[in-house]
Amino acid sequence: MERVSTGIEELDRKLSGGYPANKVTLVTGVAGSGKTIFSIHFIYKNCLEGRKCMIIATEETPEDIIYQASLLGRDLTPYYKSGQLIIENIFENRSEMVGQTRYGFKPECLNIEIPTLIELIREGTECLVMDNIGTFVLRVSIKRLRDQLDALNYLVRKKGCTTLLIMDESAHNITHQLAEYSVYGSIRLLVRENSYLGKMERYLSIPKMRSTPISPEMSIFEITSEGIKIHDSGGGKFC
Ligand SMILES: Nc1ncnc2c1ncn2[C@@H]1O[C@H](COP(=O)(O)OP(=O)(O)OP(=O)(O)O)[C@@H](O)[C@H]1O
Ligand SMILES: [Mg+2]
Repeated sequence: MERVSTGIEELDRKLSGGYPANKVTLVTGVAGSGKTIFSIHFIYKNCLEGRKCMIIATEETPEDIIYQASLLGRDLTPYYKSGQLIIENIFENRSEMVGQTRYGFKPECLNIEIPTLIELIREGTECLVMDNIGTFVLRVSIKRLRDQLDALNYLVRKKGCTTLLIMDESAHNITHQLAEYSVYGSIRLLVRENSYLGKMERYLSIPKMRSTPISPEMSIFEITSEGIKIHDSGGGKFC
């Protein structure tokens, strides 16, 4: 199976080369667990490799994302300026819509669902990030959500986009972790206390990655000014 680099060497090794190409990998985690930073690694590496990339951002502006990437030693500016990287800014559109409703516009304009996000995917996109779809999954019934996620899987496969679908832990839990079943693979990020050391640590687990031998062991990772560093397995020893 073709693989697309995650932009993190140790994770590429764990995933037999990277994310499965043209499939959806779900990344979930609590606030501040590192979801956006994971996606920045994927986008930067694939921009470097000449792929057409797109971020559909629902919470952060392009400037915020580019600034965060620069803090990790990853300069996205040239790719953004050249159009090789498109950052679609739902965040500002959504804020504008909220503003508009206060001045008499219909609240229906806030009813953005996953199919609307799919329509935004530019033709030719090879690497796609949707960060964060949490707010959108809460709008729909469980049955409808399952249909929408299945449709998303089908469409990105057809369009040839290797996709990272980011969902906050709270929306994931409220929707009974339903997305887990629709997607090809899933990665979970956690921040927990290591009771042996008495300090908080970042953990990564891979509950599922079809067609890929994976270890159920958790790995500890760090976020540094050079990006994410994953330590060898041996994590998971917290209570
Ligand atoms: N250079 C760095 N060194 C250490 N920590 C950093 C560095 N850059 C960012 N961080 C930390 O990484 C954390 C995780 O960031 P990230 O934005 O990826 O989380 P997230 O899971 O996307 O959060 P949210 O759900 O709020 O969007 C931030 O809270 C920040 O404090
Ligand atoms: Mg984020």
